[in-house]
Amino acid sequence: MVTATAPGKIILFGEHAVVYGQPALAVPVSQLRATATITASEDSDCWIEARNLSHRYRLTEARADDVLAATIERVRPLILERWIQQGRQPRLAPFVVTIDSTIPIASGLGSGAAVSTAMVRALMAYFDETPSEAEVSELVFESEKLLHGTPSGIDNTVIAYEQPVYFIKGQPPEPFTVAQPFHLLIADTGLPSPTKITVGDVRAAWQTEPARYDALFLTIGEIANTARAQIEHGEPEALGPLMKRNHTLLQKLSVSCAELDTLVEAALRAGALGAKLSGGGRGGNMLALVTPETQKRVQAALEQAGAKRVISTVIGE
Ligand code: PMV
Repeated sequence: MVTATAPGKIILFGEHAVVYGQPALAVPVSQLRATATITASEDSDCWIEARNLSHRYRLTEARADDVLAATIERVRPLILERWIQQGRQPRLAPFVVTIDSTIPIASGLGSGAAVSTAMVRALMAYFDETPSEAEVSELVFESEKLLHGTPSGIDNTVIAYEQPVYFIKGQPPEPFTVAQPFHLLIADTGLPSPTKITVGDVRAAWQTEPARYDALFLTIGEIANTARAQIEHGEPEALGPLMKRNHTLLQKLSVSCAELDTLVEAALRAGALGAKLSGGGRGGNMLALVTPETQKRVQAALEQAGAKRVISTVIGE
């Protein structure tokens, strides 16, 4: 039996604009994890068991758009190729992949990429292979395309590398240092929102008004660059105003919603230094920047304003 895990993630700055070549910052959230366990199959078939979805099925019976099956189908040839190079018999014994995850689905926390990452690592380890982070990221990116359509690649990157990353589409990821840890609350609207839909809507809007949208993306990219500098210089409190500005720009992209705006306003009223939606938007999660003094008050305000769950996390610890 082999088990591997992968973290959830949040996007600090730059979601959506990152799809259009602007920089974005993302960090892993270790409290949230997806776990994949591989065991030997008791019959001649490979099986997938998604525990959080209470679903068990044969690999051969998976639907064409099944992301878990697609991930397995991409890892298998890679293992076989390596085995051939090592002079081993290219035949893999049937296995069962069991998935557990504490990351909510379709809520901007990287659930899909984390499940795929855990699966790639577990499968490779089960068959005595160790992939590099870049290989894992690349394989998971292919699964992300099935889930998201035109992903930037930020989710698979931050999750496979499990460290804070400054990300520009098509370029090698740049890990960045958090000079002084800072405290975020991650509050869930409880509304699932598939990223594929918001990304598709933004694309349609951009096609109608390219100049307006390009200008919004550029401003978001500038915010991400400023934020990186402030995080690296140990001035996290300066992120507050940047989060507010980034949220306003995301509203202009039409990816916020009443529930997210309500949580952002409640957090700011209760003393958060900044707040913004995180991820695809129109549901999912938002972030609030707090201090040890304001944390409890902001958390209570978020819960009162309708947050279904609030996670407290320290970035850079
Ligand atoms: O998976 P989510 O909901 O965190 O969204 C990823 C961020 C987007 O910029 C909206 C899409 C992308 O591929 O970068």
